[in-house]
Amino acid sequence: MSERWIADRMHNIDASGIRKVFDLAARMTDPINLSIGQPHFDTPDEIKEALFEAVRDGKNAYSQTQGIAPLREKLEARVAAELGQADRQLFVTSGTSGALMLALSTLINPGDEVIVFDPYFVMYKHLTAMSGGKVVLIDTYPEFKIDVEKVRNAITDRTKLILFNSPSNPTGMVSSIEEMKALAELAKEKDVALLSDEIYRSFCYDGEFISPAKWNDQTIVIDGFSKSHSMTGWRLGFVHGPAHIMQQMIKLQQFTFVCAPHPMQWAALVAADYDITGRVDEYREKRDFMVRELSGDYEIAGANGAFYLFVKAPWGTGTEFAKAAIDHNLLVIPGNVFSSQDTHFRISYAAENSTLERGVEVLKKLAKRPTS
Ligand SMILES: Cc1ncc(COP(=O)(O)O)c(C=O)c1O
Repeated sequence: MSERWIADRMHNIDASGIRKVFDLAARMTDPINLSIGQPHFDTPDEIKEALFEAVRDGKNAYSQTQGIAPLREKLEARVAAELGQADRQLFVTSGTSGALMLALSTLINPGDEVIVFDPYFVMYKHLTAMSGGKVVLIDTYPEFKIDVEKVRNAITDRTKLILFNSPSNPTGMVSSIEEMKALAELAKEKDVALLSDEIYRSFCYDGEFISPAKWNDQTIVIDGFSKSHSMTGWRLGFVHGPAHIMQQMIKLQQFTFVCAPHPMQWAALVAADYDITGRVDEYREKRDFMVRELSGDYEIAGANGAFYLFVKAPWGTGTEFAKAAIDHNLLVIPGNVFSSQDTHFRISYAAENSTLERGVEVLKKLAKRPTS
């Protein structure tokens, strides 16, 4: 085996931050786990039944590259009702991650700059590195608001793409209409592609979800069933955007993923009509509980969507705080996994109420640096 075999691009992908967390977690027995980035409930039974039926019916071969027609048509109708943009094409992908990878590979030349808001979803950094692009971070601390003037100043001749995510992982921030409109219009004015990652769109607790695509018909939107329907292992997402870009992405899907998992696409047809309002209400209550219990001792911004709180460490760095939490059997993720800063930690409240109560108890104890 030779080190020479490993491509240079792999050295630009640094997974050490998250690996350290997993290493620490592996040493814990029965942790209070507030680190999980997926809903705590299982996939609804109706959707499971639709999958069993699809498998029994022999829907097990490849599907068309762009996905089965009934699912595409259902999703297209929904997108058309929301955005009503004639040139918008949609296809089904292997998760939102699959769509992200196809988009970056389709748009980014080596050396192109990709604007990413810090804190960010970890995959953005690694997929940009893989495509040979350069991440340009825009700091959104302490309130996680988007300052469009900062974006304007960061745009250069090499800027190709802006990656936008609201509701956000890891901050739970839902951007305001003003921020989104200004960002969408700036992207249009500067002829920079805008990708809106809308995987948490169902989880907006204090208002309706609005897509920046409303103000920029060239926006590439990625979405999926992982979080909304607790189907993270099923690898089902979709993407829509300008037809000429979608055509290129479909071409690449044909020679990489081939298609999204076929039987899961039939189950997604049922998922698309499955009402998740009750689950969202449950998560809103969890959000309210966590913010109510913690805001006396902790500084929390964002927190109006997804199922995360990005909390300022009350002492030490995010890593030092997360280590102390682990010593108390509580698993949270240090902020530097999602950021160039190490001042915060991420809590996921996608957990049973009893787990949240135990987590709050430890966090109240840890608000002051333990003396030992
Ligand atoms: C912001 C964001 N985008 C995309 C994904 C990927 O989701 P999928 O399971 O659809 O690939 C995640 C998963 O954690 C996420 O948090």
